[in-house]
Amino acid sequence: MSEPLPDRCYGDSNAPIYDQLYPRIDSDCLAEIAGLAGTGRVLELGVGTGRCAGPLARMGVDVVGIDRSAAMLSLARANYPTLPLVRADFSQLPFANCFRLAVSLVDTLSLLAGIEQLQGALQRIANVLEPDGLLIDESWRSHEDGQVPYVEHLDVPIVDATTGTAEARYQVRRIRMDQPAFDTLCAASGFELQSRHAGWSERKASAPGSGWISIYSKTHQGEPNRSVCAVGATHEQLGVSKNIS
Ligand SMILES: C[S@@+](CC[C@H](N)C(=O)[O-])C[C@H]1O[C@@H](n2cnc3c(N)ncnc32)[C@H](O)[C@@H]1O
Repeated sequence: MSEPLPDRCYGDSNAPIYDQLYPRIDSDCLAEIAGLAGTGRVLELGVGTGRCAGPLARMGVDVVGIDRSAAMLSLARANYPTLPLVRADFSQLPFANCFRLAVSLVDTLSLLAGIEQLQGALQRIANVLEPDGLLIDESWRSHEDGQVPYVEHLDVPIVDATTGTAEARYQVRRIRMDQPAFDTLCAASGFELQSRHAGWSERKASAPGSGWISIYSKTHQGEPNRSVCAVGATHEQLGVSKNIS
């Protein structure tokens, strides 16, 4: 890590309630990611409690999870003890190009502080992908052009169904922007939209909460491979620890 991580972030605030809010992973999501990864390595941006990366690893996918929240990583470690995890901010990815696929689920890229940070993160993501690498982005952005980007702060009470009282709060600071503006940012950062679909399967496309899934391909070769982190590098060479707690 080149800079100290912030003390509090989405993950630290919401870790205790995260698995209640997002209890399961869609099997179509796992199948799609595994299919696109093939034998390549996957980087999950904001791995959280391991909801996706954990089952992927159990399917035999070579996946590394990155998150800046110690609280989230601690839960991921408890849920999936052998999952390779890295504590770092994904706007400062500590790797060179060694991933076939980068995955952002649940609008995670929107959790960055602003447009400038988002653009910087997209550029770094492009740089850690192999030349034919892909970015999968699940989001709930509006598809109507013209929304002026802004940062939204949410603070939602989570009411216990039994007691009727608010036992916890869900706190989010996120960038709101429309999908065309995000596509433009991706294009400026070295990505080209390859395909887009609603929900993880056509069958569930209109289900409440279904996001838009966009797949971008890398349009440039990225930075030269400067470190030991070549394609085929081991987890140890990547600096990935299996002992983060
Ligand atoms: C909405 S959760 C998604 C968790 C997981 N991907 C899933 O699908 O369940 C977002 C995660 O991203 C992490 N996160 C947010 N901003 C981050 C950043 N800049 N760098 C690394 N992790 C970040 C949070 O700590 C949190 O664990």
